[in-house]
Amino acid sequence: MKSLFHKSIVLFLVVVTATSCFNKDKPNYQYFPDMYAPVSYEAYGEYDVFANGQEAKLPVEGTIPRGWSPYAYENTNEGYEQAKAQLKNPLPYSEKNIAAGQQLYTIYCAVCHGDQGNGKGILVEREKILGVPSYDDAGRAITEGSTYHVMYYGLNSMGSYASQTTIEERWQIDHYVMKLKGTLEGKPEREFQSDTASVKKNLVPAINADATALGAKANAGQDEESTN
Ligand code: HEC
Repeated sequence: MKSLFHKSIVLFLVVVTATSCFNKDKPNYQYFPDMYAPVSYEAYGEYDVFANGQEAKLPVEGTIPRGWSPYAYENTNEGYEQAKAQLKNPLPYSEKNIAAGQQLYTIYCAVCHGDQGNGKGILVEREKILGVPSYDDAGRAITEGSTYHVMYYGLNSMGSYASQTTIEERWQIDHYVMKLKGTLEGKPEREFQSDTASVKKNLVPAINADATALGAKANAGQDEESTN
């Protein structure tokens, strides 16, 4: 009788201990969880169940990163010529865009090309870099398209600005470069457009039909200036 009494005290204590700390907000203990909870894979783990042995999959072909748009012109002489002939600035020539373009130009380009775009930036004056052209260089006859193209890919000792600037920023700089070119050539100032002058649908328009013709012409062995 006495031992039964002791046993029931022990049992009582066990039950009190087991239930007193029970927290309704937390999941209960599971006895042999088996497959109650899924076993998750590590993002970069190696697992035999996948065809290529790793959990992380490559993006499907044609996937593009968020906020990035494909640029249709290739980094070749033909691509340069095509962009030069066809690619137009989709942003309105507005006061806002020119002001933004000037600011970005001063940050990224003026060290070499100079504030006036005459190719006499501080690095040129200090003879740190050679061969920086003036934007009114008649032999080059730069256009909106060619300027965008060289900002995107770079050109010889000039680096690419594709990673430092957004598409919109490059087009703003582009407007400003064209403005500097016009001033150097003594042309009258282009009139500002309103910000809503043209709706920007696609900042990098796809190559149109002429591109094929131009590409073919360039392939036919024309003497093109190197763009690499
Ligand atoms: C490190 C100096 C340097 C910086 C910075 C620089 N450029 Fe250049 N740029 C050059 C040189 C050098 C060339 C000539 C390349 C050649 O033809 O070999 C050039 C050429 C050009 C041309 C003429 C390309 C053609 O079609 O012949 C344009 C337009 C141009 N740069 C625009 C820009 C713009 C816009 C920026 C700023 C986003 C910029 N550059 C920043 C050095 C620079």
